[in-house]
Amino acid sequence: MSSPCLTLENVSKTYMSNRDGRLVTALADVTFSVNAGEYLCLLGRSGCGKSTLLSVISGLTELDAGTIRNNGELVCGPNRHRMLMFQQDALFPWLDVLGNVMYGLQFVERMSRDEMQKKAEAYLDLVGLSNVHHFHINQLSGGMRQRVALARALAPDPNILLMDEPFSALDAMTREQLYADMQRIWKETQKTVIMVTHNAREAACLGTRIILMSAGRVIDDQPISLPHPRTMNDTGIGQTASLISQRLQQKENVESIQ
Ligand SMILES: Nc1ncnc2c1ncn2[C@@H]1O[C@H](COP(=O)(O)OP(=O)(O)OP(=O)(O)O)[C@@H](O)[C@H]1O
Ligand SMILES: [Mg+2]
Repeated sequence: MSSPCLTLENVSKTYMSNRDGRLVTALADVTFSVNAGEYLCLLGRSGCGKSTLLSVISGLTELDAGTIRNNGELVCGPNRHRMLMFQQDALFPWLDVLGNVMYGLQFVERMSRDEMQKKAEAYLDLVGLSNVHHFHINQLSGGMRQRVALARALAPDPNILLMDEPFSALDAMTREQLYADMQRIWKETQKTVIMVTHNAREAACLGTRIILMSAGRVIDDQPISLPHPRTMNDTGIGQTASLISQRLQQKENVESIQ
């Protein structure tokens, strides 16, 4: 049994709305833990708090209440142990592909420029981008950009990879290829992954566990025990995705009645 690599206890976060100055509850009393090596998917409707949850885990957003620990240490700011990857447009357009991946390595102590370059090249190989090291970001397709973003997030060797809808801006074919590669990379690197998605099929295809959220709360938490690698055409994926969607609907109805 692996030990928890992340624990959240009674985490809450409220924002002041820019529109009318009212308080918006983004996270309310969120408690769960994640074991090393899990692939956790966070699923829920728009506005339920998924991105806020990733952001507080990364340390970029401060909590109002509660605690988050990564391998026992209190999270109180961003660091290279929890790297965050966004939906799109998060690469630096003034750096080439290699430069983007090397960027994150400057936060790793005691690494020469040569070592940084070797490491960046190794991660570009891992994500299947061996031949575009000196391409500009605007020469890349959407799928290639997300591969660069993935290599950049992995290069500092974080113990948790946080992904906010990393595949949702891509076309279906590119997405499916990335699902296959993501499973291979997750297995090879043995990273703990926490990934936000709107898509129940995507969660069923990738996750070892799915947490459902509604109005800032965790409303369901279930393991997905189908073997990896999975593809979107597997019968188990469709069935699991339907069950997840039904559960989300049922739980949300119950929540709104209470
Ligand atoms: N910086 C902010 N200032 C004010 N309100 C915010 C801010 N960030 C998020 N919110 C509000 O907090 C709630 C949760 O937002 P969040 O972005 O975490 O949801 P989400 O589940 O990621 O949504 P989506 O699926 O649309 O990305 C929403 O009501 C949102 O409007
Ligand atoms: Mg979001």
